[in-house]
Amino acid sequence: MHSIIHKAKEYSTKGDLILLVTPNSDWSKFDLSANELKFIKRQLNDGKTSVEVNQYTRYVFVECLDTCLDPFALLEDARKRGAKIAVKCNNGAIACVSIIDLTTCNLSIYIAEGMALANYQFLKYFSDSESKQNTLKFIHVDAEDTVIQNMNAVISGTMHARDFVNEPLSYLTALQFSEDMMTLGDAVGFDVEVLHEKQIEALHMGGLLAVNKGAVEPPTFNVLTYNPEGARNSKPIVLVGKGIVYDTGGLSLKPTSNSMDMMKCDMGGAATVVGVMYALAEAKIPVHVVGLIPATENRPGLSAYAPGDVIYMMDGSSVEVLNTDAEGRLVMADALTYAKRYDPELVVDFATLTGAAVRAIGKYGIVGMGSASSEDQQRLLDSGMKTYERLAMMPFWDEYGELLKSEIADLKNLGPAEAGQITAGKFLEYFTDYPWMHFDIAGPAFLVQDDHYRLKGGTGTGVRMMFDFLLSKSNF
Ligand code: BES
Ligand code: MN
Ligand code: ZN
Repeated sequence: MHSIIHKAKEYSTKGDLILLVTPNSDWSKFDLSANELKFIKRQLNDGKTSVEVNQYTRYVFVECLDTCLDPFALLEDARKRGAKIAVKCNNGAIACVSIIDLTTCNLSIYIAEGMALANYQFLKYFSDSESKQNTLKFIHVDAEDTVIQNMNAVISGTMHARDFVNEPLSYLTALQFSEDMMTLGDAVGFDVEVLHEKQIEALHMGGLLAVNKGAVEPPTFNVLTYNPEGARNSKPIVLVGKGIVYDTGGLSLKPTSNSMDMMKCDMGGAATVVGVMYALAEAKIPVHVVGLIPATENRPGLSAYAPGDVIYMMDGSSVEVLNTDAEGRLVMADALTYAKRYDPELVVDFATLTGAAVRAIGKYGIVGMGSASSEDQQRLLDSGMKTYERLAMMPFWDEYGELLKSEIADLKNLGPAEAGQITAGKFLEYFTDYPWMHFDIAGPAFLVQDDHYRLKGGTGTGVRMMFDFLLSKSNF
């Protein structure tokens, strides 16, 4: 993927320009006429914080930042402004723009981040995709090389995650998903091992196999490995992603009016994991990470698993299936069991797991819970704030786990109506014996409306948060 953010050059102040300012900045160096300066000053005095000057030979976008905002709000404000400017650049047929920061806050890279993320398009299925292409291709910033490299890498990872989520089932079957992961792995340098149906049977992954019974296409279990020389962690960090390439609910069929419309997004967790692996490999971050992705459709085919079935999971425990639409936890449980073989330092899973998570906090953040050390949890919370992929930690008391006791098996896959996001997490916890966090991304993974730089469709949520977390861990 072509990098959009580049280091600023000498001539950068000549072309289209974004000026980050405070009211008392020094305006003298940017070829603004006395009239233009007067115009800018008047707009700022009127309380505007974004001013656009069309000099005919170029645009100058002036952004007056409120540097009194708290640090996280300031970064997010910068990204949102970037998103607005990206739209203006494309409307003005601009290909290349430079950002000059006259404040003391080093915000150029975050403006660029918002611009780049807002510049994303998914045009594959348009006949005239060429003519629909955004014009913006280069953003010049004055920042350190590694800062720019890391930002480009995490943006590429996010965009790949978005692409996967936006791909419909008509293209992205489990097998195709595996193929595409291998292509990305080859491109940037992580390994992808694909386990096929026979191997999944040999591993007794009863959760993944049960969900796949009603499917048309075979399942895959994907093992992504990034273990660079000089990795700082001796025990790997394992990321697990829910890869339900389409969720009809199975025999517990989802009602057709709307509730199935966006279910191509149900591999959003898997997309996040691939996106993180891609970003780490492209940026050559020295950390040993393994990604585990169980993939299948959930469909009500003739041999579909049925409510009331008892299935045996990979770890040997029995599960009473009371709702075939609670399929995510079944495929995730087997992947969490598989993770045990790595003796991991930490396991983090991402899943579009429950409607309850959406009802709890909507699209504004990620629902989190788990058993990781308080140090790692704090580090995750910090990365969430910094990237504004915020984490809302749930209580995780034992009582929620007791709600999954079954009359006829070790546990059931369905809890009561309340706290569904937490009982789903408790189901997963049953299959873990290592420090672990569960992130339910059902709310933010897929949007029906643009939200600044998070565009309609797949958002790639979690990639930026997790990359920041792993980067900060690798710096120790
Ligand atoms: N994939 C859904 C959860 C979901 C809902 C994702 C909305 C994205 C947006 C999951 O498999 C599901 O169907 N969950 C059920 C669980 C229930 C049957 C216990 C739900 O939340 O309704
Ligand atoms: Mn479901
Ligand atoms: Zn699902």
